[in-house]
Amino acid sequence: MELSTAGLGIQSASPLGTSPEQLAVISKAADGMQQSQLETLQQDGWLAGVGEVRATAQLAALHAEEFSTEQRVRSWLHVNCSHCHQPHAGGSALIDLRRETKTDAMQLVGQVPLRGAFGISGAGLVVPGDPEGSVLLYRIASCAGGRMPRLGATLPDPAALSEVRRWIAELPRTGATETVNSDEELDRVRKAIARLETLSAVERAELLQGLVATARGALMVLLEIQDSEELLPLGREIALLTVDSQSLAARDLFARFLPPDRARSDGAGSMDRQSLLAAVGDVDRGRAVFRREGGASCINCHRAEGVGVVLGPALDGIGRKMTRAEILNQIEEPSGTIKPTYLLWSVETTRGLVHTGLLKERTTEKLVLANTGPRQQEIPVAEIESVNVQQKSLMPEQLLRELSSQDAADLLEYLESLVETGSE
Ligand code: HEC
Ligand code: HEC
Repeated sequence: MELSTAGLGIQSASPLGTSPEQLAVISKAADGMQQSQLETLQQDGWLAGVGEVRATAQLAALHAEEFSTEQRVRSWLHVNCSHCHQPHAGGSALIDLRRETKTDAMQLVGQVPLRGAFGISGAGLVVPGDPEGSVLLYRIASCAGGRMPRLGATLPDPAALSEVRRWIAELPRTGATETVNSDEELDRVRKAIARLETLSAVERAELLQGLVATARGALMVLLEIQDSEELLPLGREIALLTVDSQSLAARDLFARFLPPDRARSDGAGSMDRQSLLAAVGDVDRGRAVFRREGGASCINCHRAEGVGVVLGPALDGIGRKMTRAEILNQIEEPSGTIKPTYLLWSVETTRGLVHTGLLKERTTEKLVLANTGPRQQEIPVAEIESVNVQQKSLMPEQLLRELSSQDAADLLEYLESLVETGSE
């Protein structure tokens, strides 16, 4: 095996593999000496070309009680997520989940999700003191829409969920944030679950459906039952009750409890296209949906009626250019047809950095890429190693999943009403 990790810290589209920190675990060598796995591997000739093995701080295993929750969670995020979520690893999310990154530099705590809020009210990527309001927790709990990690494990790790939840609950709350009283909510959920035994089958089904009707509620119930042998069977009951329901969160979070013959093959979140096209929407409400902050807000990338950012196409006049069905296609399948100006560029530099974004400018000296977030990236031509143009849109997929059918109908109604070409 050859490892070339000389430039640790700056990795090019980091490999999905072990990192030296993971191999820094102390183990007993044959002669009884304490040394790290890395040293043992090197000693035994399994690692060629590594040079001197640098002492790296050991990662904290999730169950290692000698470490703090913070240390354990940060190690877990580092191992499971940071190969994609670190600066320059490509991709369209801006968070940095490496362990060595200071908490306030992770672009995570208190930040608005750019890639979807999954219908969580008052969502942030991580909201201190509010685990159920945190998209990060939702994504690692989901086994369908928005699941993280994006590759690899397809089922959530209950131990990780509990620890990440505790970490978020213990993060110091900032004065300005409105606090949701999780404890009170949890108390309500527990009392309801305790009451189930006394109910008729119909009442029981109603109560369970009610508990998981919101994204927050579904996440809370999942976390409440997952560690309890006694309550775990509720998972399957809820999954069967919600498999065809409108509650996307319940479907995302409980689908893993479905017996194999009931698993959905069409993917959660498919909405009935015909009824969406036929539904009557309201232009004013649709405008509000379009401008709604949080989640993958349309105005992060689009401008209409003078509001929003021009990263994707301005949408004034879209109602004249496209039919309702065509607009719906564009939203449902952003990568279906993309104009050359909106292709996602990915540029690797000689230093091994990968930048992605839309091409804004190209001269003999530099390329300029733009992405969501404040900065444009200038890359001197002399530093370019390779350029790759992806047949993929910057626009997130599954945006409609976050909306109720009514919201989606309103949004379509609004976009259709945009027949005036804007003056800008
Ligand atoms: C193989 C690459 C990959 C891995 C591994 C990965 N992610 Fe992601 N992540 C992505 C991509 C790509 C996106 C943006 C697309 C999307 O929204 O699904 C994303 C989006 C996110 C977002 C939303 C960011 C926003 O601004 O809305 C969060 C939160 C997140 N990931 C958390 C995690 C966590 C936690 C892990 C580890 C358990 C993880 N990711 C592992 C590729 C990855
Ligand atoms: C992260 C950026 C981003 C977000 C968020 C986003 N879009 Fe887009 N959108 C794009 C880009 C880039 C394109 C052009 C490339 C393509 O067709 O995929 C596009 C294309 C479109 C088009 C086709 C326009 C045309 O003239 O071809 C429509 C319609 C649209 N988006 C609607 C929406 C709506 C509605 C939302 C919110 C629910 C939204 N978009 C959110 C980036 C975004």
